[in-house]
This record gives sequence, C-alpha cells and structure tokens, in this order.
Amino acid sequence: MNIEPFALERWFARYEHEADLMLAESGIRSLDASRFDLDAGELGYVVPTDGDPDLRARIADRYDRSAEEVVCTCGAQEANFLAFLALVGEADHAVVVTPTYQSLHAVPEALGAVTRVDLEPPAWDLDPDAVAGAIRPETSVVVVNNPNNPTGRYLDGETVRALYDLAADAGAYLLCDEVYRLLAEEPLAPVASMGEYGVSTTSVTKAHGLAGLRFGWLAGPSEVTSAARNWKDYTTISPPKFGQHVARQALAEEEEILARNRALAAENRDLVRSWVGRHDLSWHDPVGVNGFVTVPEGFATGRSFCRRVVEEESVVLAPGDAFGHPDRFRIGFGLPTGDLRTGLDRLDAFLDRHA
Ligand SMILES: Cc1ncc(COP(=O)(O)O)c(C=O)c1O
Repeated sequence: MNIEPFALERWFARYEHEADLMLAESGIRSLDASRFDLDAGELGYVVPTDGDPDLRARIADRYDRSAEEVVCTCGAQEANFLAFLALVGEADHAVVVTPTYQSLHAVPEALGAVTRVDLEPPAWDLDPDAVAGAIRPETSVVVVNNPNNPTGRYLDGETVRALYDLAADAGAYLLCDEVYRLLAEEPLAPVASMGEYGVSTTSVTKAHGLAGLRFGWLAGPSEVTSAARNWKDYTTISPPKFGQHVARQALAEEEEILARNRALAAENRDLVRSWVGRHDLSWHDPVGVNGFVTVPEGFATGRSFCRRVVEEESVVLAPGDAFGHPDRFRIGFGLPTGDLRTGLDRLDAFLDRHA
C-alpha cells in the first residue's frame, strides 16, 4: 500500500517554522490554554477508549444518535482515516468531491479505487449529476468536505440532500468532513443526522481554535462506528486524555467561543476581500477562514508566487497545486486581525514591487 506525500504539510514543514507570519493556517486563531481548567487528573488512557460515555452522549445529541454511534479520535484526521479504513477495502470504490483536503482523496486512493468529481470554478459549484455518473456498483462511500477547504464553498442543503440520496440509493455512505461547519453563520444540519447512510467527521481544531488538543470524532450508523473502533485499537487506542478534558469544557462554552470566532472570521474576511479586489484578483467569497485566490499576473504558478512571497516577505501562503490547482493560492485568514493586517501590508509591498 502506497500513499503520496502530503503536499501541504511538506510545504509548511519547509517554511512555517522560520517565517514571521502564517497566512496559510486553515483554522481560526488558537485559544490560550489558560482560559481552561488544565487539571486532567491522572494522565492515563481515556477509558473507555472510544471516549467518555457522557461526552459521547452529548456529542451524539447533535446528530440525533446514541453514544454508541460516536467514536472520539485524535482530531478529524484520525476520524477520517478510521472512516476510510472502515468503508474502503481493496475491492471498493469511493467518489470524492475535489479540490479538497488531501487526506480525503489520498487515503481512499491508497486503500481502494477513487473517482474524483470536481467543483467547477469560479463559483465551485457541484453538479450532482456528475456524482451520479461517477457512482459504480462497488461504490461504498461518497466523500465531501462542506464547507470546503480550500475554496470556502459551502454547498447548500439541497445539494447535500441530493448527494445523500444518490449515495443512499446506491447503498453507499455519504461521508462529510464538517470541520468548518460551525464557522458558518447558519450551519446546515450535519450529514450524520440525515439518516442511516450519513457519516460526519469533525473536531475542535478549526472552528473552536483548539488544534493542539488533537480531539475530534466520527458520528454515524453503528456498523460504521464499530468498524472504526476495531481499527482504532491499532491506531491511537484512545483520544488524548488532556485533549478530552479541555474539549469537554470548550464544548460546554461553545456558543460564546463560536460567536467570537465567527465575528473574527467576518472581520478578517472583509479585509481579505478588499485586498483581493485591490489587486484585481478573484476568489469565491468563502465560508470559513480559507480563500482560494487566483495568482497575480507575472507569476507562472501559485507555487512560484508563494515561494517569492515567503522568501522576500516572510509570509507563508499555500500553493494551489497542493489542491490540484496550480493557478491559485490559498490564503488562511483566521489569525488575529492585527497580524492579518501586517501580512496583507507585506503582500501589498511585495505586489507593488513586482506588479
Ligand atoms: C478538511 C479538513 N479535515 C481535517 C483536517 C485535520 O483536522 P484535525 O486537526 O482535527 O485533525 C483539516 C486540517 O486542515 C482539514 O482542512
């Protein structure tokens, strides 16, 4: 079994540590540990190893499901990984809506067969008929990330319903990575609440600003969660004890955390929107804190643009080729507004020199 290198992580590994400003982080700015009770007690495994039953029951309420239908994980990355291990064997096929976060196609590509169905620029629309055409008798899962990384496109409820119906009619699951869902002003109902073929993955990384907790979960029908549990004994055994302790508090005060984070996202989005307009670039006005922007004139690719920017201005952006679109770059604007302003000023100076 082979898997391709994770392009975005390799890019970050090269530049993030040394650079002054990170304008490529895909989540909201991180909360400080000091706002939480940090005494997690004995630092053993979480027991039971799929997450505290009360916490799972509370999470399950979001999906009208039972605690048994939730598995707590080390972030959404592990939740997705377990979902794919559970759903995609060698003889199976997945339909994956792209561009998307690389794991969502690379992992099923390593495990089985994948057909990608593209969102169509500039609005990044999805044609459900294209998904219908990609489904095969051996399709076990249709995969979507909504709101989408990198484009910020939030497919509407009607489209998600169409995807669910297509998957269910084929006896396949609809797996939706919903890590950005709670940054939307009006979040759609999660896919795991739509019916027996709905599976949702998420975490407290992006919308809550708690990446360092490494805490997420998978929710869906019990045949999927029990297969995921079976694999989890071989991956991380349990979610982190400390992560669970703090995530429980964050979820208890979620409304306040999310209200602040949505306000920050809206303020920063306005700033980036004017920056994009000022330089005659274009993007689809995003939900969440990622925008997928066209490359300024004079640069052959997003990668050459991003490389010059980080080398000359010490600002990290993400090249669009990491998402199969070399003519774009991704900007992440979830950071504190002052830092974003400084970063955009540096990009202005850079473009003034090179335009
Ligand atoms: C769509 C998507 N899913 C999952 C992840 C990973 O999330 P976590 O940090 O919770 O593992 C990311 C991180 O960028 C992401 O963009």
